[in-house]
Amino acid sequence: MRDRVRVALARIKSGRPAKSLLMVGLRGVGKTVLLDRMREDAEAAGLHTIRIEAPETRSLPAILAPQLRQALHRLSQIERAKALAQRALRALAGFATALKVKYGDIEVGLDFDPERGLADNGDLEHDLQVLLVVAGKAAKAAETALAIFADELQYVGEEDLGALITALHRTAQEGLPVVLVGAGLPQLAGQTGRAKSYAERLFDFPAISQLDANAARTAIVKPIRDQGADITDEAVDRIIEVTRRYPYFLQEWGKHAWDAAGSSPITLDDVEKASATAIAALDESFFRVRFDRLTGLERKYLRAMAELGAGPHRSGDIAAQLDRNVTSLGPTRAQLIAKGMIWSPNFGETAFTVPMFDEYLRRIMSGDDWRSR
Ligand SMILES: Nc1ncnc2c1ncn2[C@@H]1O[C@H](COP(=O)(O)OP(=O)(O)OP(=O)(O)O)[C@@H](O)[C@H]1O
Ligand SMILES: [Mg+2]
Repeated sequence: MRDRVRVALARIKSGRPAKSLLMVGLRGVGKTVLLDRMREDAEAAGLHTIRIEAPETRSLPAILAPQLRQALHRLSQIERAKALAQRALRALAGFATALKVKYGDIEVGLDFDPERGLADNGDLEHDLQVLLVVAGKAAKAAETALAIFADELQYVGEEDLGALITALHRTAQEGLPVVLVGAGLPQLAGQTGRAKSYAERLFDFPAISQLDANAARTAIVKPIRDQGADITDEAVDRIIEVTRRYPYFLQEWGKHAWDAAGSSPITLDDVEKASATAIAALDESFFRVRFDRLTGLERKYLRAMAELGAGPHRSGDIAAQLDRNVTSLGPTRAQLIAKGMIWSPNFGETAFTVPMFDEYLRRIMSGDDWRSR
């Protein structure tokens, strides 16, 4: 995966076209870690990078503008790109000023006066295109590329996402070295397609999932050996089984098994003890932060899914659990997708975005009365 991106970034830097890339996967599979490694690779290869993370509450222009400003400053230090980078900073000034009306959350320092008519329409789709085109020209003049690393992209609203896609389409058409490397929950693929139907031609969507058995084994064994200790094969096998090779869980089990073991090697017995403490810790953190953000009906919906197992499940089956019809639960399902709790792998299907969330819900909403609570 990293190599694939390295090749794409080298292509774009040398002025050849390369597809932007959106990594999609469930919670805790390692998207953010991968994104940051790729960014380090990109910086090492001489690209100019920007790193943003979409929160649920702020607009895309608000998170993009300050980072873009910094990148343009760095570009303006390169003599042959200076004039164009400064022009891009003017575009940014126009962009931020004109969009401030609609996006009150834009806060960015302005270094130059805007240039009239340059990215100052007040229309995000138009202005972002112009802004990325001038920024791309500056990067090209500097014989480098601008790579935007964006995390949690599923939280960007459809209109903002559409504007970003259009802008990237435009820079690609003009042969400018601008590329997006993004990460998000699986719903991101569908969201980009709905925002702009041509998105699928513009992006690759590599799926990030559990580690394979070898990688999972290494993830457990290596940190332990690095400390001069060891772990038995059956203990490793058990960790691999209970974590189902999800990176986040592997890390937790490794930590708790280490703490449970009095001496080296770590044994199966230590792992069994670790399972109890690891699950308790996850229940209070990883799972709990997500559960706390849900309304009563949302919890019930998810609990109904959990009743059916790990999933994916058909909407009709979930509704039947609640003695409701599918239509009346539509808004709840939509909110849960917006919150990043569930996604739709296929039409009419619903799945959790958090691995093992079904087990958690059955633990915390136990008893037969969850339907009536
Ligand atoms: N290849 C890997 N091997 C071992 N551990 C890993 C690997 N990738 C990630 N991890 C660990 O798993 C945890 C989760 O990774 P990360 O935060 O990148 O997941 P994510 O996909 O971004 O999740 P989220 O959707 O919740 O943001 C991290 O603490 C990280 O250290
Ligand atoms: Mg992440």
